[in-house]
Amino acid sequence: MRIEGLTHSPSPKHHFASDNNSPVHASVLDAIVSANRGHTLAYGDDYYTERAVARIKQTFGAACEPFFVFTGTSANVLSLAALTRSYHSVICAESAHLNGAECGAPEKFTGVKLIGLRSDTGKITVADIEACLGHEGDQHHNQPKVVSLTQATDFGLCYTADEIGAISEFAHRHDLYVHMDGARIYTACAALGRSLKAMTTDVGLDVLSLGGTKNGLLGAEAVLFFKPELARDFKHIRKQGMQLASKMRFLAVQMEALLSDDLWLTNARHANLMAKTLAAELTRIPGIRITREVQTNMVYCTLPRQNIDVIREAYLFYVFDETQSEVRLVTSYDTTEADVQGFVEVATAALAAEG
Ligand SMILES: Cc1ncc(COP(=O)(O)O)c(C=O)c1O
Repeated sequence: MRIEGLTHSPSPKHHFASDNNSPVHASVLDAIVSANRGHTLAYGDDYYTERAVARIKQTFGAACEPFFVFTGTSANVLSLAALTRSYHSVICAESAHLNGAECGAPEKFTGVKLIGLRSDTGKITVADIEACLGHEGDQHHNQPKVVSLTQATDFGLCYTADEIGAISEFAHRHDLYVHMDGARIYTACAALGRSLKAMTTDVGLDVLSLGGTKNGLLGAEAVLFFKPELARDFKHIRKQGMQLASKMRFLAVQMEALLSDDLWLTNARHANLMAKTLAAELTRIPGIRITREVQTNMVYCTLPRQNIDVIREAYLFYVFDETQSEVRLVTSYDTTEADVQGFVEVATAALAAEG
């Protein structure tokens, strides 16, 4: 049946707008299909969820307590709900997704004040955090309770294990919890050559929003508590937060597939490699400037303003900063060398035509 007036095309083209836009990895779909048999108990009381929880404990350490949710925003918001009361504040980077791109959900659902710190890299330091303290016990001030780190940051940069360790040590000394938005933790671990455990459990994190959807899943994320006492009420918080899946097995098997056979690492390494290749190629084009270090799967660069539309017609991407004509190109686990070359050819031709 033909439907007139549709604005989107079903074209299977790849582009560079976001790793959210990539399809589901075939192994993940296979895992969903193989779990699609018979009746199981709902809400997580099932064999598949038990198996996935065991896999997560194997990956992150036996003490961690995982809870599956549908979205990254809910993982962040519900993590904060577990750690705070409404008079608390959360220290994060200004660029953090939870500060700028979650439509105020953290504030609405928890009541906390977010303190967004300016940072060109998206990383915050012990000194930045220390500068936010000083009103402890003062009844007029929100009380800082959580430091939230984004790994990799919204600019694609990574905190090292030492940096996270230093922040955790400082935070805990000042009665603060450490949360990590790990929507892209996989690309960070791949870039640093470190295991998921080394970058979380072993460096003192309290709670992790563990991503998935940006690295090949259909739609599954998880909240991991590294101190079981913090997880005590979370089953109620998740249900009140409308994130308790009845058909939990289908979330669970996605995460299990990602953590099995190093699929997370293969996917993330590939996305990172494609970003590095793209950046290296773009550096050679006169008129294009790479604006930020490329550590993971994001390339920020300037493009001449007049060329942006024509390149975007061939390969969709987003303009990050209109004033600087700075754009963001994101690679995914399924980005191909041909996609990179295609983008480079279109950009080269567009800039040459202009010159
Ligand atoms: C760093 C980061 N955290 C959290 C999210 C939220 O994920 P979702 O869109 O699944 O709510 C995103 C989404 O792009 C993100 O980039």
